Amino acid sequence: MRLDKFICACTELSRTQAKKAISNGDIFVDDASITKSSFKIDAQSKIVYLGRRLLLQGARYIMLNKPLDTVCTSIDDDARSVMGLLGAEERKALHIAGRLDIDTTGLVILTDDGAWSHRITSPKKKCGKRYRVRLIEPVSENVATCFKQGVQLNGEKNLTRPAEVEILSPYEVLLTIHEGKYHQVKRMFAALNNRVIQLHREKVGGIQLDESLGSGEWRYLTAAEISSVV
Ligand code: URA
Repeated sequence: MRLDKFICACTELSRTQAKKAISNGDIFVDDASITKSSFKIDAQSKIVYLGRRLLLQGARYIMLNKPLDTVCTSIDDDARSVMGLLGAEERKALHIAGRLDIDTTGLVILTDDGAWSHRITSPKKKCGKRYRVRLIEPVSENVATCFKQGVQLNGEKNLTRPAEVEILSPYEVLLTIHEGKYHQVKRMFAALNNRVIQLHREKVGGIQLDESLGSGEWRYLTAAEISSVV
């Protein structure tokens, strides 16, 4: 898509005003000033106008507090799907930006903006995801060092990326990971001969699960939460 067309779609500016803003150097694409109206952007591009991140109008961004025993699937006729917690209108065309297991609770983000969700889910972006983890065995003393160095998960070629741990009690920790391999948190603790018995996602990037949301409740993200994903 041409840059000037995108600016028109996202702002009140007319085509002429958009072209002027571009030639004035008011538009940044992926942190570089772009002064050519015909510059081609793609779904992944980050466009900033006078310090404000531009998003396609009409896109929807939702946080949901996932209950136990619900599945993160986009198939909305699955009775156990988180999609069923949204109204038929709200869930239209939404996808999930980072799934949780059926027995994991907490922050799930849904959107119809694929470029935005890509910045959450792409391993290259290293977006942090913080989990509150309850363990069956007391956490080992060297957990922080092991997870900082990376651990070998069964069936994976590479070690896990450096992750941060805060020990809250012998059986409870906060773990922040920067990738999202299948069952990653459970497998990381299995690699240390422990077992996760409760898993709750509290934070994705700068977006914290709203404490006022009860299990199964949701709300639209604020503009600040949306633009915190870079
Ligand atoms: N890691 C897991 O093991 N499960 C989840 O649901 C999320 C991260």
